[in-house]
Amino acid sequence: MELGEAIRRRRMVRRYDPQRRVSEEVVIAALERATRAPSAGFSQGSDFLVLRSAAERTAFWDATTDAAAGGQPDSWLQGLMTAPTLVLCLSDPDHYLERYAEVDKGWTDRDPTRWPVPYWDVDTGMAAMLLLLTAVEDGLGACFFGVPPDRHTAVRAALGIPENRRFVGVVSLGYAVPHQRSPSLRRGRRPLTEVTHWGRFGEPGPLAAPSVGEDGGARGAHDPAPADRSPRSPG
Ligand SMILES: Cc1cc2nc3c(=O)[nH]c(=O)nc-3n(C[C@H](O)[C@H](O)[C@H](O)COP(=O)(O)O)c2cc1C
Repeated sequence: MELGEAIRRRRMVRRYDPQRRVSEEVVIAALERATRAPSAGFSQGSDFLVLRSAAERTAFWDATTDAAAGGQPDSWLQGLMTAPTLVLCLSDPDHYLERYAEVDKGWTDRDPTRWPVPYWDVDTGMAAMLLLLTAVEDGLGACFFGVPPDRHTAVRAALGIPENRRFVGVVSLGYAVPHQRSPSLRRGRRPLTEVTHWGRFGEPGPLAAPSVGEDGGARGAHDPAPADRSPRSPG
């Protein structure tokens, strides 16, 4: 599949066919892709914890929800819980602090405040994106979602995750079944004219609205693609 098509078609899928497992080969190939993600200093401080058996997935859901205590999951959670494969995407700041203490970088104080943004999380997010795009190519549905902070300790205990790993997010994988679109999509996609700045913040550059001529104005070659911020194409 062409990359542009995979990017266009990617959508978060929050309900899966529980009877259709994702083959181990497909999961391994997706993880292989994830390890092609860029990383600061090539630190590669991401770990991927794959949960495939019913027992492994139950351990995760029990630790992150009130399901084990008899709590009723809402429809969002019920949908995600049908995913036959979960990949916990974890970041490891220590990998970066160690890597940047090496002689070519020289930050021997290993001071995390040197980092303008936590690149360990950024890089792990990039790897998760590769999982999401690979899923599209493989005809799978996928969703990236977070682990509530007050559940991190329970998940660590349930799955043996070391204290120094950070929960960046989880990618669920499976074969999609009909599901509700996220209400968030009603927000519409912010148009390119709003989110891009050319040469100086706030400058529209080639995306400036064309001046309308006396004849009503032919639209110029640089017109932006029609913004899809409309109720009919919520993204
Ligand atoms: C960092 C991040 C966290 C997200 N967390 C959740 C989440 O906890 N639950 C969820 O259902 N979707 C989550 N999403 C998915 C977004 O809701 C979704 O990407 C957005 O609505 C756009 O929809 P689309 O990805 O289908 O185009 C998350 C996405 C990102 C990038």
